[in-house]
Amino acid sequence: MTDDHAATHEAEEDARNAELLIWVDGRLTPRAEAKVSVYDSGFMLGDGVWEGMRLYDGRWAFLDDHMDRLFEAAKAIDLDIGRDRGAVIAALEETREANGMTTDAHARLMVTRGVKRLPFQHPRLSVQGPTMVIIMEHSKPRIPRPIRLATVPHLRGLPMTQDPKLNSHSKLNCILACIAAEKAGADEALMLDVHGFVNTTNACNFFIVRKGEVWTSTGDYCMNGITRAKVIEVCRANGIPVFERNFSLVDTYGADEAFLTGTFGAQTPVGEIDGRVIGTGQLGPVTERIRGLYKALVAA
Ligand SMILES: Cc1ncc(COP(=O)(O)O)c(C=O)c1O
Repeated sequence: MTDDHAATHEAEEDARNAELLIWVDGRLTPRAEAKVSVYDSGFMLGDGVWEGMRLYDGRWAFLDDHMDRLFEAAKAIDLDIGRDRGAVIAALEETREANGMTTDAHARLMVTRGVKRLPFQHPRLSVQGPTMVIIMEHSKPRIPRPIRLATVPHLRGLPMTQDPKLNSHSKLNCILACIAAEKAGADEALMLDVHGFVNTTNACNFFIVRKGEVWTSTGDYCMNGITRAKVIEVCRANGIPVFERNFSLVDTYGADEAFLTGTFGAQTPVGEIDGRVIGTGQLGPVTERIRGLYKALVAA
């Protein structure tokens, strides 16, 4: 990793993370010993769903939205989490308390179809009930400069293949997109939809700003990001024109600003796309304003 390396999920080094306790199926286990079976459906097949959540000042931001999305995704893949919302939140809190975290923490809560009887795909072979794991880290985003994106051939596709709204364990499509972007000299991938309109990135939602208007994709082909929804909400509440619409790379290269959204980084400026500098190449005034409004919403 060079100093110039930037990615949307880089965090400051924190020595406390070496000694974390990881929640694995109800037991808090030191990080070095935390394990799942090699027969686990998640390890073997990417068969599971997950949520990324952030702790700000003692509270999990938009916890209800994350729980709604988790249970909706589990239902969609016919996975019984085996616990109700209260029990999932209790596990989250148990992990937080065990690790002495009060703010600036990030949780990855994962639920898979569990341990399989045989090393094959059929979901009926997952016989032991779900596996649930919570990794929680001390985490402060560290993004040394605006992100560079490259457009890649990989799409987040139609809902009848792997619905792009699912936060599935298997991220291979997005990983391939990210690899292609890195090979092209960028940090992350800008992914189009099946019609060629600008859609999303491999790990975040995508917005542009043109003449004071904020544009993002229709939402049909991207992750139903909670940060994306909150950005739209704060724009609407504060008189910033915001549109979910189709737009192309021409509109994107010519934008005044571009930024990414995700729970981890909130709003991350994009400086360059396919070698074209976007606006000044730096954090723009509209993005900065939205950042402030989002921060206030989290605090509220
Ligand atoms: C592909 C993709 N897009 C966008 C997001 C951002 O979603 P959120 O704002 O809910 O963190 C994620 C996060 O998991 C993601 O994996």
